[in-house]
Amino acid sequence: MTAQAPARRLYIKTYGCQMNVYDSERMADVLRPLGYGLTDAPDDADLVVLNTCHIREKATEKVYSELGQIRRLKARRADAGEAMLVAVAGCVAQAEGAEIRRRQPAVDIVVGPQSYHRLPELIARAHRAAGEALAAEFEPDAKFDALAGTRDSSGVSAFVTVQEGCDKFCTFCVVPYTRGPEYSRPPAAIEAEARALADRGVREVTLLGQNVNAYDDGAGGGLAGLIRRLAKVPGLARLRYTTSHPRDMDEALIGAHAEVEALMPYLHLPAQAGSDRVLKAMNRGHTARDYLSIVGRLRAARLDIALSGDFIVGFPGETEADFQATLDLVREVGYASAFSFKYSRRPGTPGAAMRGQVPDEVKAERLARLQALLEDHQRAFNRAQVGKVLPVLVEKPGSQPGQIAGRSPYLQATHFQGDVRQIGEIVPVRIVSAAKNSLAAEPAMVAA
Ligand code: SAH
Ligand code: SF4
Ligand code: F3S
Repeated sequence: MTAQAPARRLYIKTYGCQMNVYDSERMADVLRPLGYGLTDAPDDADLVVLNTCHIREKATEKVYSELGQIRRLKARRADAGEAMLVAVAGCVAQAEGAEIRRRQPAVDIVVGPQSYHRLPELIARAHRAAGEALAAEFEPDAKFDALAGTRDSSGVSAFVTVQEGCDKFCTFCVVPYTRGPEYSRPPAAIEAEARALADRGVREVTLLGQNVNAYDDGAGGGLAGLIRRLAKVPGLARLRYTTSHPRDMDEALIGAHAEVEALMPYLHLPAQAGSDRVLKAMNRGHTARDYLSIVGRLRAARLDIALSGDFIVGFPGETEADFQATLDLVREVGYASAFSFKYSRRPGTPGAAMRGQVPDEVKAERLARLQALLEDHQRAFNRAQVGKVLPVLVEKPGSQPGQIAGRSPYLQATHFQGDVRQIGEIVPVRIVSAAKNSLAAEPAMVAA
């Protein structure tokens, strides 16, 4: 039986972080009752949504170049007598608002991250007039209430946003301006969403938030309390959370890593820099020593925990000695994986106005050295798995016939011979070889 073709075609392109991935899924959910079904090419879409990211200049510029192409598709469709609505969602929408339509008049709708439940209304309005259709207010309660209970997620691993926004105001970052103040969803709503996902076969949930470990249930339970609660949901075998701020890494959460079996031994804990002077100028609120002390306590709580991180090179005022302190911190921690970026000057953030902006060549050269070191560590970490037996959550068929693929506890893509009926199972496998971005394995015999 073939599924009925959707009445309208929806194309969503997602940029930026996992919160945007989650939001894009939810946008598809709210639009489904209006007859919109997803399509994977924009060419003949009735509605194109770009879910954008504002974090670095490059991310924002990408959106405008994509919009230029969409404008041509829209014109071609108009020639054929058909309409295409173009919506810009996400953090560029929040940050630039109506300016987007001035720069690119093909845009019909600008909708900020807190207003996705209003999409049906905005679409109706855009259809009526090609006039202003702008929603970029902060109203997280309304957002989650209106989006509740409509999820149509497939797959064995899912994201659940539990916290949004940021009150930290790191001096380089736009997120507090694009996502608004910290807001936590009520635990009961999160648990209901997690149960519904588990009922559909989801085995792993990643709790998302710009500052997920600042999660506040209003009763002092924090993220640790939420994790313990979700660990009891039948069917959910794995829990993860991202992104955490070192400042909110409290003892209860470290304790959860020691005790909650479902909590995976892998943590994304951005350090950004290793120099205390730079950390202070970034307004991170911790020193390198504080960070290392957290890592030490995590490792004491959970021996096999591995870390990933984010780094920025070339923050205003960063000297070669400061940069060396970042390399020292990286060597001391030994990351399993990490993201690193050249500092990007974001209008409106305090860093943009700081003296001592670092020339691009210097940033590029430091980034290359940092990335070489991080890659060495990543390869070494992957190689260290060879010979071990790791539980892999099987997610999909592999790229070769007869293969299946999934993730290790450390999120390493791992493939081995198996049957697609094992999708959704957690299979112990012996790692036989390691590349930079994946592991090859064979089914392991485990003693009963
Ligand atoms: N809330 C998270 C980070 C969210 S943004 C945290 O506090 O760690 C994701 C990453 O983008 C950041 O960790 C940082 O490394 C990078 N980033 C943010 N703003 C940036 C900028 N202006 N230039 C370069 N990298 C930036
Ligand atoms: Fe940005 Fe800092 Fe907030 Fe993270 S904690 S989102 S880096 S301001
Ligand atoms: Fe980008 Fe917004 Fe996420 S700026 S990183 S999409 S919170």
